[in-house]
Formats: sequence, C-alpha cells, structure tokens
Amino acid sequence: MPKPIYVLNGPNLNLLGTRQPHIYGADSLDDIRRRCEARAAALGHTVVFRQSNKEGELVDWLNEAATAASAVVLNPAAYGHTSVALYDAIKAMQTPVVECHLSNPMAREAFRHHSYVSMAAVGTVSGFGARSYELALDAAAGLAAV
Ligand code: DQA
Repeated sequence: MPKPIYVLNGPNLNLLGTRQPHIYGADSLDDIRRRCEARAAALGHTVVFRQSNKEGELVDWLNEAATAASAVVLNPAAYGHTSVALYDAIKAMQTPVVECHLSNPMAREAFRHHSYVSMAAVGTVSGFGARSYELALDAAAGLAAV
C-alpha cells in the first residue's frame, strides 16, 4: 500500500454545508471526506483528511506530508490568495501538491484571481464543487510517489 494522500483543507471549510451553499454546495466537509475516502480506495490509496483555520498548522502538515504522504490535495481556501508561507512550504517539498477549490476563483472577485499556491502546485482543479476533490485525487494518485 503506498503512503497516504494527504487532503488538507484551509480556513472556513469546516463550515461547508451551511456556508454560502449557492457557491460551495450543500455537502459538509464530512461528506467530502467520505467521498475522498471512497475515491482514494477505488484508486488503491488511502487518505489522511484534515482541516485547519490556522495558517501555521497547514504549514506544519505540508512539512509532515513531505515525508509521510505520497501526494497532497490542498484546498488552501483564502490562504491560497495570501500565504507566502504556504508557497514556501510547497516549494520545499518533493511530494506533488494538487491545488483544489470547490468554486472557480477566476470567475469570482478580483482578489481571488491570484494564488500563491497555484505558483507552487503541480496543477489546480477548481469549479466542480465537491467533485473537484475527486478529480484532484485522480490527479494526485497519478502523480503519487511510490
Ligand atoms: C475556496 C475558494 C477561495 O477563494 C475561498 O476563500 C474559500 C474556498 C473554494 O474551495 O472554492 O474559502 O478555496
């Protein structure tokens, strides 16, 4: 069994299900975790699924993933638009990172059009709601170091 794929979630994603469902959908983060576990199992992988509202905790988890994960799916949420620390953490690791967003930030407010994470990730999946996570997992499994 390969090392797990880490699925890391940033600020306010704990509120999914009730947070602006017209933008982010009706699935809770727990629903998304279950979808990720099922998708990963179908791909022969396991997931470590976490969420934090704290930038430093996400940095710690990326540092950990550098040795403990075969690949990372990262929804940095708002920190994608602001965090040089996340950019540096991704640049410091060999493990592939796939950026993931429920909504399509490029179709939204101008302040969402820049992503530090996009500058460091292998690629980005956005705009497909909870399905973005499954598509990002497909990509991550394809890139996973064994
Ligand atoms: C998000 C998009 C971000 O712009 C926003 O700050 C989020 C969620 C998404 O999944 O669509 O919190 O990452």
